[in-house]
Amino acid sequence: MQTRVLPISDSSIHEACRILRHGELVAFPTETVYGLGGLGLHLAAIEKIFRVKGRPKTDPLILHLPSPNLATAVASGFVADPLPPLALLLAETFWPGPLTLILPKGPLVPLTVTAGNNTVAVRYPSCPSAQRLLQEVGHPLAAPSANRFGRLSPTDAAAVLAELNGKIPLILDGGPCPQGIESTVLTLTELKPTILRLGAITPERISSVLNQPVLLQSKKISAAMASPSPGMLAQHYSPQTPLYLCTSPIQAVTPEFQFIVFCETRLAVQPNVHLLAPDGKGETAARNLYRFLRQADGCSSAAILIDPIPDSASAPALRDRLERASLGTAHFQDGQWHLRTRA
Ligand code: TXA
Ligand code: MG
Repeated sequence: MQTRVLPISDSSIHEACRILRHGELVAFPTETVYGLGGLGLHLAAIEKIFRVKGRPKTDPLILHLPSPNLATAVASGFVADPLPPLALLLAETFWPGPLTLILPKGPLVPLTVTAGNNTVAVRYPSCPSAQRLLQEVGHPLAAPSANRFGRLSPTDAAAVLAELNGKIPLILDGGPCPQGIESTVLTLTELKPTILRLGAITPERISSVLNQPVLLQSKKISAAMASPSPGMLAQHYSPQTPLYLCTSPIQAVTPEFQFIVFCETRLAVQPNVHLLAPDGKGETAARNLYRFLRQADGCSSAAILIDPIPDSASAPALRDRLERASLGTAHFQDGQWHLRTRA
């Protein structure tokens, strides 16, 4: 299959809708990462998503709603009635935006989407191109990140093409994603609101809106354990080159490795150094992280070493992804780097 890449326009959105209505898949931009979209109530399209991604059927998909109105989603049978009491408040506060809510599943949602669960993940993205697509198709789109399973999420059309060339008919190119890491996933189906995946919407913001603490699902869940949200697997979101987290700020670089430094421009003159956040801001680091990991991954080096992430609102989500993507830690001593692989 030939994969076309078309810039966002009326005609490319129209073409995307035509393809989607035939049960085929289209990759599209969101504010977080690119999604691999298919009609979310259409079994054949959903099966295709799992097949193309190589994703286990036990890992449920997010439904991207055609409108930010949760009451409409309930009336349409996407989400069950009654809504958990806090759901409307959260949707009104954070949608459009990078918050995924886990809610009781509506009768129209196939169990294949939810991996057999009676809950469904829903969100309404803030990216205008995604909104145009969703509104025109008028149907929820199931869309995981547009990468093969376990790999880095793509944050531009070239990265989607590198992942899925020949496997899908169309990629809508809306430029680089402004946020760069996946949405926060919050469940409202437990006794207390619980974050299953950290993202751009911080626990602090959510708890201040809810006026109560939110729980954070324990960080590492091994593949062998039953997982409430497979994005929580200890090993996930990985480049192919082994990644190591530096235990203190990088002061020296050596030629055999790729280095992702946070904002130390003095080091960035070397070709094997990638500068994550020249302005020192956490949100810039989030926007660039996957792109630089991909870039470094393509350099055929023995390992990628990354600076510690300084504190900021984005830091917990970034550190979470890096811990999952890394094999261990690195420290510089006696003129050389020492890599320690985690047990
Ligand atoms: O930012 C994002 O969320 C991107 C863009 C494309 O919207 N999508 C994304 O999808 O990251 P995906 O499939 O790569 O990650 C969805 C996460 C997974 O960790 C999945 O296990 C969890 O959401 N999830 C989905 N449905 C769930 C459910 N019913 N219960 C618990 N976790 C669920
Ligand atoms: Mg993913």
